[in-house]
Formats: sequence, C-alpha cells, structure tokens
Amino acid sequence: MAQKVLIHGATGETGGDILDGLVADGSFVSPSNPISPHRTQSYQEIAALVRPQSLQKLVTKSLKSRGVKVVVSDLVNQDVEEIADLLAGYDTVISAVATTAQLDQLKLVDAAAKAGIKRFIPCGFTSISPPGGVMSLIRTEKEKIHERIWYHHLPYTIIDSGTWYQISFPSLPSGKVSYAFMGDGNTIVADGNAPNLMVDKRDIGRLTARIIKDSRTLNKRVFLHADVLTQNDIWAIMERKSGEKIEAKHATHDELLAKMHTARAVCMKNPSDPRMRFAAISAEYMVCKYVRQDNNPQNARYLGYIGTRELYPDFEPNTFSAFVDELLAGQAKKLYRDKFEFMQKKST
Ligand SMILES: NC(=O)c1ccc[n+]([C@@H]2O[C@H](COP(=O)([O-])OP(=O)(O)OC[C@H]3O[C@@H](n4cnc5c(N)ncnc54)[C@H](OP(=O)(O)O)[C@@H]3O)[C@@H](O)[C@H]2O)c1
Repeated sequence: MAQKVLIHGATGETGGDILDGLVADGSFVSPSNPISPHRTQSYQEIAALVRPQSLQKLVTKSLKSRGVKVVVSDLVNQDVEEIADLLAGYDTVISAVATTAQLDQLKLVDAAAKAGIKRFIPCGFTSISPPGGVMSLIRTEKEKIHERIWYHHLPYTIIDSGTWYQISFPSLPSGKVSYAFMGDGNTIVADGNAPNLMVDKRDIGRLTARIIKDSRTLNKRVFLHADVLTQNDIWAIMERKSGEKIEAKHATHDELLAKMHTARAVCMKNPSDPRMRFAAISAEYMVCKYVRQDNNPQNARYLGYIGTRELYPDFEPNTFSAFVDELLAGQAKKLYRDKFEFMQKKST
C-alpha cells in the first residue's frame, strides 16, 4: 500500500536529507522487492509543511519543482483544528524541525492525533542520551514531545542518529577542509578514547525511508547504526588520508563539566538569548559524548532502542573513511549555507 508522508522541516539540513531519502527510495521500492519482506510500500505523495514566511525561499521553491507538495501552516498562530485539517489524509508525519523550535511540535502532535495520523516521527535525529536532565535543554524538550505523543496514544517511532560525520572532523593545518569545517576547534577530550555513534547525515534519509515502512519499528525507539569511532580513530583517519599532522588542544573531563555548569547557569539567566542556549547545548553534548559516554550502541540498546544494523543487515551505511575521501576531494557540502549567508548579510 502506498503511503502519504508529510515532512515538517523539509527545508532544513535533516529534513532535506529525509526528503532526498524518501524520493530516492520511493522510486524503486515495490511490493515485490526481494531485499526485505518488510519493505512493502512506496510513497503516493511526499509533502512539506512550510511556514508562510518561508514560502519565498529558494529552497521552498525548489521543493515544488521536485514534485513535492507544499502545505502552508503556521504552527504558532493556527489552532489545532486548522492544523488537523491540513494533516488529514496523511499516513505519516515526520518532524525534523530546528533545534530552537522543538516545542512547536506540541501543537503538531495534538493535530496529528486529531487527524488520525498512523505514525508520527518526532524530531529526534540526535545523539543517544537518557531523559531526565543529562541534556537539560535539547533532550528534555524532545522528551516533552514524546510525552505528548503518549498522552494521545498516537502511533510513533523515535529515531536517533548519533553525531553527523559532517560536524565531527578536525580542521587541517593546510586549510584544505576549512570550506566545510563546523567542528569545535580540534579539542581531544581526556585520552581521546570515548567511542561515539556517528552517521553520514545523508543516511538519515535513506534509513528513515525504510523505518517508516516497517511494522517492526512502530511504537519503538530506533537508532541509526553506522560507524562507532573514538576521537583518536577520527584523527588517525584524517592524518593518514591527508598526510598532514593535526595539532590538537586537550581538555579534561573536569574542564568539560565546569564549562557545562557555567554555560547552563549563563543560559538560565538569559533564556531567550540563542547564543547562550547554543553554548549550553554544545557543552552538554561534549559531556554526554566524552565524559558520560552515552552516545554508543550499547547504551542505546540499554535505553530500549533497536539498531538499524539488526533491522536492515543489507543496508551498507556510508563510512567515515569514505566521507573523508569526499571531504579531501573538496566534494563535501557546506552545511547551513542559507543561514550563514543570511547572517553574513545581516552583519554587513
Ligand atoms: N546528530 C547530529 O549531529 C545533529 C546535528 C544537527 C542537528 N541535529 C538534530 O536535527 C534536528 C533538526 O535540526 P537541523 O539542524 O537539521 O535543522 P535546520 O537545518 O536548522 O532546519 C530547520 C527546519 O525547521 C524549520 N522550522 C520550522 N519552524 C521553525 C522555527 N520556528 N524556527 C526555525 N526553523 C523552523 C525550518 O523551516 P524554514 O524554512 O521555515 O526556516 C527548517 O525547515 C534538531 O532537532 C537537532 O537536534 C542533529
């Protein structure tokens, strides 16, 4: 049976990858596809839920030219009934909304329940961590959405991904990868041996396309299982492939914890300042990944997630090593291009 899918955040980084994954997958999956008995549906319609103020963006216009239906909705100002009318008839709603707008999903969940959506994918797509304050900003907001889903008995799948390769590589002395660099300044934490779950962000879409057609993932948490690497592994791959020696700064666990407590305190005093919030979220990620070591497959399974390697043994995720080849060849994509260009224009 073909399904109709609506993506919230399709003009963003994660949402764009999900859209690409669905478009690619829908074109070849058929009921007779022999790869997996669980892949039995294609997509009848892929639509994007877009804010009125974003209709004129180039990226929104490009959705239409790809055959994606644009559904205009203002989650902040519309009431739940109006939003439910827009959602009616879709089987699956996927949210991949900006980090700063997680709570907009509360209304979307209420509307999805009212519209009888068959599966809601809340905006997860992040590192593995437990609920309850470890990631006191981003995870806590995501868990509020889960609670609202459970309140309504709304069918769901929670998908988390580990950290993108695209934001996890160090810069090189030659400046060769600066065009795509989004890292944290080449800081190795403690002995550099904490294993972390990582993914090529483009695989988020390819795997989400499978997950939303799979009855085994309904009302479950799923983690995308690609590479698991330490910082030392990452440095070794980058040095071997580039032939360059990378200078590293070092931070201890205590330094990271102190930085996190300070960033949280500053953020609490300035809750509406996005820079303070970003600093606190980043500091919490560092502690979660390198001090607590939450972001790995063992912990994901402990927290009740199923991994995509068990679900889809035939799926070959892109490796970090292959991503580095692309990066060094100058073929990686600079992320958040629209946002940076907008910020640059504002500051000039
Ligand atoms: N695993 C990782 O390494 C990693 C890295 C980054 C992010 N993430 C996760 O991925 C999720 C999505 O983040 P992203 O960075 O991919 O998103 P993004 O690129 O910032 O995209 C944001 C999307 O949200 C839409 N949006 C709707 N309401 C909005 C609002 N009120 N304010 C701002 N944007 C709004 C934007 O639409 P418009 O076109 O209307 O602006 C856009 O489509 C986040 O929850 C984050 O936790 C994970």
